[in-house]
Amino acid sequence: MFAQVLHVLVSLHAVVALDNGVGLYPPMGYNTWNDLGCRDMTEANVKMAADALVNTGLLKAGFEFVNLDDCWQADTRNSTTGRLEGHPERFPSGIKALADYLHENGFKFGIYTDRGTKTCAGYPGSFGHEDIDAQTFADWGVDYVKEDNCHSSTGANDLDTLFAEFGKFRDALNKTGRPIFFSVCGGGDQWPLNDIRYYATDSRGGAKLANSWRITPDVIGRLTLQDASLTNAGLADYAGPGGFNDPDMLLSSSNTSVRQLPVEWSRTQFSVWAVLMAPLLIGGPPEKLDPFDIETYTNAEVIAVNQDPLMKQGTIVEKSGIVFLPQSHVIWARNLSGGSVAMVFVNDGWATRDVTCGEKCWSALPFKKGTRLTVRDLWAHAPAEAPIAIAGTPYSVFVAGFWSIGDSRMFKLTPVSRGSERDVRDSSSVEHVISDLVI
Ligand code: GLA
Repeated sequence: MFAQVLHVLVSLHAVVALDNGVGLYPPMGYNTWNDLGCRDMTEANVKMAADALVNTGLLKAGFEFVNLDDCWQADTRNSTTGRLEGHPERFPSGIKALADYLHENGFKFGIYTDRGTKTCAGYPGSFGHEDIDAQTFADWGVDYVKEDNCHSSTGANDLDTLFAEFGKFRDALNKTGRPIFFSVCGGGDQWPLNDIRYYATDSRGGAKLANSWRITPDVIGRLTLQDASLTNAGLADYAGPGGFNDPDMLLSSSNTSVRQLPVEWSRTQFSVWAVLMAPLLIGGPPEKLDPFDIETYTNAEVIAVNQDPLMKQGTIVEKSGIVFLPQSHVIWARNLSGGSVAMVFVNDGWATRDVTCGEKCWSALPFKKGTRLTVRDLWAHAPAEAPIAIAGTPYSVFVAGFWSIGDSRMFKLTPVSRGSERDVRDSSSVEHVISDLVI
């Protein structure tokens, strides 16, 4: 019954939003950009990545999208039909054949374009060709379109044109009748560390425009990762089923990844992205990920947090110090279905230490003072070393730290007593504490 009611609620919300019925849960998959870039963008490499998603168990774990980013296109449109085509040397069998291969192997297929005259890498953009491009994508069986923001005639930050042009593509996709996840990306308006929160906050943006929208510049290392997560914390109210804040792709820790993070931060990103209800798009090479990364990305308990049907994005419930400096920490929380809460305790500082959920933290969580809670460690797959927390009583978690790298722990807190749902206050409370935090 609960599931049915939830389904109806989820559907209603989606209708109010983009009306394409897709993206009810954050998409999970692989995107080529950080891995293949332009240089290695070929049909053979994409198939190899897809086959590896199968062999490593990542597809089974939920990573179902294979998304081509920039550089799949031929240098020019077809001179007779005016349609976009795959690059003849990189994708000799054509894009439709690749789409078929991926579908036959259980994947959904994503593709990339740009609202301007050219993509960020200089291939033909969709400006003035919205209807025909959307139709071409639908004809190929595309399930996900990322539209970027480079080479616009009025510049990247002219918001009237920006929302009008992205809106044209949204409408063109809707007209095709094929359910296609629509993801907008501020590729051209992002440097240097520009504030592009308007994709979420503008009345023409957010879920009215797309199923996901980038809220910060590309995540390419720790600084941009911090920026994306802290910015996203302030945007929780804009996300819901059918529309997600997009803090960009996952960076792996394998030394085969073009963009690499220390293991602590790669795993921290996965935990925080789960709390943020963010799209989970792997940016490392699926065929060359080391066992640590595979373990990270196949953690079903963390994925369940990301995909939790309550569909409430989490945020920061306590923050102290300035990130990167000693003694700084951030505690994240997301309300889950069934009255539980997922929490990530991040030690951002220099040294191993306890991170404590104190008064401010408890007051932002949806539990009545004195409620007994079981605490499960979602990375150890076992009860935490202090397996019971009492709401309102300081709860300390040991979090390793290594020079300036820091680390994190992730837990699920669940009320012990039966009928404890009555103890849960309005679930929107988590989101509202963010307003007084420094972002
Ligand atoms: C921009 C986007 C990236 C990627 C590249 C492709 O930089 O932000 O995610 O799509 O363009 O050129």
